[in-house]
Amino acid sequence: MSKILVTGGAGYIGSHACIELILAGYKVVVLDNFSNSSPESINRVNKLLNSEIISYQGDISDELILNRIFKEQSIKAVIHFAGLKAVSESIANPIHYYHNNVTGSIILSSVMQKFGCKTLIFSSSATVYGQKKIMPIDENSSLIPNNPYGRNKLVIENYLRDLYISDNEWSIGLLRYFNPVGAHDSGLIGEDSKVPNNLMPFIAQVAIGKRKKLSVFGGDYPTKDGTGIRDYIHVMDLANGHIKAMKYLFKNRELITLNLGTGKGFSVLELIHSFEAASGNQIPYEIIERRDGDVAESFANPSLAEKVMGWKAKYQINRMCEDTWRWQKMNPNGYN
Ligand code: NAD
Ligand code: WQD
Repeated sequence: MSKILVTGGAGYIGSHACIELILAGYKVVVLDNFSNSSPESINRVNKLLNSEIISYQGDISDELILNRIFKEQSIKAVIHFAGLKAVSESIANPIHYYHNNVTGSIILSSVMQKFGCKTLIFSSSATVYGQKKIMPIDENSSLIPNNPYGRNKLVIENYLRDLYISDNEWSIGLLRYFNPVGAHDSGLIGEDSKVPNNLMPFIAQVAIGKRKKLSVFGGDYPTKDGTGIRDYIHVMDLANGHIKAMKYLFKNRELITLNLGTGKGFSVLELIHSFEAASGNQIPYEIIERRDGDVAESFANPSLAEKVMGWKAKYQINRMCEDTWRWQKMNPNGYN
């Protein structure tokens, strides 16, 4: 059976991708240093699906463990989620971010090359586009990220493009996610964030009473209700996009760069109201000043992903809120 190495497979998006991979018939090997996750997510996936994920605790920048994995397992492709993702931390500690994300990706790909495993899917981000005036954003928009985290993603994308140019035997998918939210509908797997960086987990923690109120960053943007607009995408749609991309890359030795979003933008207030409807709870909020570095609006043109690999997001905003709420209620303290 084909084995797929999932780096960062214990994390939020990686654990959901493991579910989709197993359901699609693949054997999954995870490499994670658990710097932002817990092995419990893998245990839960195994319980849910009666599966046996092979898990290695280690770092993508550790050549020794990578050598061991490629010697012990026959890996057909790598889906590379491992990375640090907090924008504010990346500003405070660029050395750590560049080392973990950029150096780690270089070492991972060099070991893949050595073992002749040349199919790679990389978690990029809509953050590579930076501030854009024209919506929706398509893949040809200029790439001007405005923080170190986003520049990490762009450096890795450019590096992978160079790798592909040097050796067309590589098959590489650069997937640019918009705003991943939601959870598996079992309520067993979800986003375990102690102090949330993002809007949706923050709303969920307010809804359950862990936090008193939500601060809405800015009420004076040139948008329909003055609050920021984003393209929220259900994590299971995202996970499915990886399976589609991988199958495409098995058939076509190419480098593909694709947006993964719904193409629809929702404001902060619209998300709050959808969550209130899904949870039956009120979300107290206060509009405060804008957050530094935020853009007014960001949503995808996802049509290329549909054209290239037949992928389209199917879950709507209400389902994203319902699934997040179920996960929050069933796991008030995350995986602990
Ligand atoms: P996450 O933090 O939940 O998962 C990342 C996983 O990688 C964690 O389990 C962490 O322990 C692991 N990890 C980090 N550095 C590692 C290293 N050096 N070696 C081994 N394991 C390491 O984050 P996520 O939300 O699941 O994001 C997955 C990927 O998608 C990341 O690359 C992130 O930048 C990207 N992304 C996320 C979002 C988002 O909003 N969640 C949006 C766009 C792109
Ligand atoms: C969404 C909207 C905020 C929190 C970030 C990263 C990006 C990507 C996804 C990884 C904005 C508003 C938020 C809060 C609020 N990650 N907000 N109160 O900023 O679009 O993207 O996560 O690649 O790189 O930058 O997502 O969820 O933080 O914010 O009003 O407490 O919610 O201003 O309009 P963002 P977000």
